[in-house]
Amino acid sequence: MGVLLQQDTEYGVEALSDVLTSSREFLRPLRWEGPDGGINRSEMKKFRETVGFSSHILRVVKDMLDDAPVFLECSCGKSYLAFVLNRVLRELYGLDCTFYGVDVSGALVEKCRKIAMSLDYDNMSFTKGRTLEFDVPEGKKIDIVLALHACDTATDEAIARGIRSGARYIMVVPCCQNQLRGQIRSTQPLKDLTDFGPLRYRFADLLTESLRAQVLKGAGYYVEIHEVVPPTVTPKNLVITARRLRSGKKRGMGSYGRLCRQLGVRSILEDFLPELFHGEDG
Ligand SMILES: C[S@@+](CC[C@H](N)C(=O)[O-])C[C@H]1O[C@@H](n2cnc3c(N)ncnc32)[C@H](O)[C@@H]1O
Repeated sequence: MGVLLQQDTEYGVEALSDVLTSSREFLRPLRWEGPDGGINRSEMKKFRETVGFSSHILRVVKDMLDDAPVFLECSCGKSYLAFVLNRVLRELYGLDCTFYGVDVSGALVEKCRKIAMSLDYDNMSFTKGRTLEFDVPEGKKIDIVLALHACDTATDEAIARGIRSGARYIMVVPCCQNQLRGQIRSTQPLKDLTDFGPLRYRFADLLTESLRAQVLKGAGYYVEIHEVVPPTVTPKNLVITARRLRSGKKRGMGSYGRLCRQLGVRSILEDFLPELFHGEDG
C-alpha cells in the first residue's frame, strides 16, 4: 500500500470529527453520545482535546502508517485517545494497528477492556500498573508512545518508557507540572521573575517542558513543541513531539545539565533514566 493519507486535510480535526460522529455505536460506549446523535455537551472538551491530539499524531506519523505501527498509550484513563485513533485508522484506512494502554487504576483498565469488547476492537489490550513498569509484550516493539494529560510525573514516566523502548515517536500532552515548582528557590538568578504566585507556576511549567525537551534531545530525538488545541479549549494544550533520529546519535545531557545548574533544579527523569545520566554532564 502506498501512503494512505495523501493530503493534510485528511488528518484535519473536521475530517476526524466527522468519522467519529458518524457512528452512534462508536460514541455510546465512550459515553460521548449526545441526545441528537452528536457529542454530549459535557464531554465536548475531552472530545476536542482528543481529536486535536489525534489529528497531530496522524500528521506526524503518516509515513509509517503503512507498517501498522504499535502504539502504547500511557496513563490511558478511559483511553479515549487510543479508541479515536483506532476507529480512524480502521474505519477510514483499513489499518489494523496494535494498541496497548496502561493505567494505575484497575477500574479504568476494566472499563477500557469492556469498551474495546463492545466495539469488537480485538487489537487493543490494557494493563493495570505504572507506566514505568509496563513490560513490552514479548516479540513486540513499541513504535509510538503517547500520553494525554498524564498527571505530573506520569508524563515523565511516559517519556522514560518511550526512550527506554527506543520508540520511534514519543508524543506527550502534559498535565499539571508540580515536580519542579518546589525546587525553585528564592536564590535562583531569575528570582525577580518568580516573585509572584501565578508567574511562579507558569515559570515552573515552562521549565518542566524545557527540561523534558532537552532530555529527549540529549537521548537522540528531534524535538518540536506545538499547540494541539487553542488555549480556550484547555490551557494544557502543548504537545512535545519527539522523533528518534535515524543516526541514533545521542547528544548527551549537556544542555539539560546547564539549565539545571543555572536554576538549581533537577528533573525526576534523572531517577527514571539513570543510565542516560550516569557519567554525563548532568
Ligand atoms: C488526568 S487522567 C488522564 C486520562 C486520559 N489520558 C485522558 O486524557 O482522558 C490521568 C490518568 O493517569 C493515571 N496515572 C497516574 N499516574 C500514573 C502512572 N504512574 N502510571 C500509569 N497511570 C497513571 C491515572 O489513573 C489517570 O487515569
